Amino acid sequence: MKLNIALLAGDGIGPEVIDQAVKVCNAIASKYNHELNWRPALTGAAAIDVVGEPYPDETHEICVSSDAVLFGAIGHPRFDNDPSAKVRPEQGLLKMRKKLGLFANVRPTFTFPSLIDKSPLKRERIEGTDLVFLRELTGGIYFGKRGREDNGNTAYDTCTYTRKEVQRLAKKGFEMAMKRSKKLCCVDKANVLESSRLWRETVQAMEKDYPEVTVSYEFVDAVAMRLVQWPNSYDVLITENLFGDILTDEASVISGSMGLMPSASIGDSIGLYEPIHGSYPQAAGKDIANPLATVLSAAMMFEDFNLLDEAQAIRDVVNKSLDQGIVTEDLAEGAKAYKTSEVGDWLASRI
Ligand code: IPM
Ligand code: MN
Repeated sequence: MKLNIALLAGDGIGPEVIDQAVKVCNAIASKYNHELNWRPALTGAAAIDVVGEPYPDETHEICVSSDAVLFGAIGHPRFDNDPSAKVRPEQGLLKMRKKLGLFANVRPTFTFPSLIDKSPLKRERIEGTDLVFLRELTGGIYFGKRGREDNGNTAYDTCTYTRKEVQRLAKKGFEMAMKRSKKLCCVDKANVLESSRLWRETVQAMEKDYPEVTVSYEFVDAVAMRLVQWPNSYDVLITENLFGDILTDEASVISGSMGLMPSASIGDSIGLYEPIHGSYPQAAGKDIANPLATVLSAAMMFEDFNLLDEAQAIRDVVNKSLDQGIVTEDLAEGAKAYKTSEVGDWLASRI
């Protein structure tokens, strides 16, 4: 297969972890006879520095004319403590999601047998966890009307959803549940929020089209608690943008390190694959960040191209590296910590 892949390294540790994913993908390509054409483009603070815009038009052109986007991370501390900053790197990510129509963010959470004791949660709670969040990504409070009133002394952000937006996300959730254990949880706050009531009513109306799927409706606060108590009780969870943002960070604790969790953002056409961690500026340039979340995101990309052996080969070699302790410092715990680039080299050579 010949694939054009837009490569958006972004900020902080983005370029370092992306480099490792590229090594791994190239190794896969030569093993399975694919041709990967990498098309680098600017995004985030790195793009603001060069063109004054976190998601430049040229980058968008490269993305839409590619078969997939592999993305590193976005964000820079110089913007974080400056509420008056007019342009922020994160706006680039939001604009990109919107312009590429990436309305569903698929965030799996699973445990790695060799890391089970690295999680702060007890082994018996988390063993066997295999759940996936479908987070709505282009609506809700992230994109609603916002502003200031009263001379800047009052601020508001609004959460708006249309039935269509809920339906298309829920459809992906039902389809995913059909392929897995036929269990779907709709996470909302329907006891308080009108937008949540629209979510619940829309999903309820879709149940008849998927008679085999058992749907539960749970409030987000209760899910936040049960997620770390009984993660095993969940399989596919669908939720709105902000709830999904928060719960997926929480869920990453189950796996033992945020540096492990991949994600795919999908919509009607092109997919974007990125680690769920951020730009981790303290580690930027030090060659210490864990590249596995990005590498596993690349596996999700191969899976979406229906290249299932390729995806599995990546997961297998990642598991091997964990078993053999070829890990970065976040997982080393006193044992030898490998550099980001060494982990990437090891994975590529084993493939
Ligand atoms: C994520 C991130 C982003 C989000 C930020 C960087 C805008 O936290 O992908 O989860 O909130 O969606
Ligand atoms: Mn987040």
